[in-house]
Amino acid sequence: MAFIEWKEQYETGLLGYDAQHKTLVRLANRIHECLDSQAPGSDLELSSVFGAFLEMTRTHVRTEDELMAWHHHDPAFGHEEAHQNFIAGLEAISEPSVEGLSQRQRLGEILVKFKLHFETEDEQAFLSMLRHRNFPVAK
Ligand SMILES: [Fe+2]
Ligand SMILES: [Fe+2]
Repeated sequence: MAFIEWKEQYETGLLGYDAQHKTLVRLANRIHECLDSQAPGSDLELSSVFGAFLEMTRTHVRTEDELMAWHHHDPAFGHEEAHQNFIAGLEAISEPSVEGLSQRQRLGEILVKFKLHFETEDEQAFLSMLRHRNFPVAK
């Protein structure tokens, strides 16, 4: 079973935005597999998949922060701040050791944060609002 299972309810109908979420989930699942793997070469793959995850996360939070602003999503929920904290955590992975935790351990923790953030009530409520707003209207 994948670390994060993609569900139809995650789709909003905004194709570019949905594609970003799908890519992030795919990359998070691959990182999770690499972290579990002792196979030779897994460190190399981990580093390139992590690079793609970091880049896609930067792109995605810009998109989502803008979408939320356009739709007057309540900033009091702290969604934008959660994004910035998440990126700061990802960028800190390049430090060899923080508080005695290895890069792999911290990456494992950050993946759990990603999963929790994606499944939070706030993110899911926003997806649901977009899905209903973008539902094709019968003519
Ligand atoms: Fe998102
Ligand atoms: Fe988010």
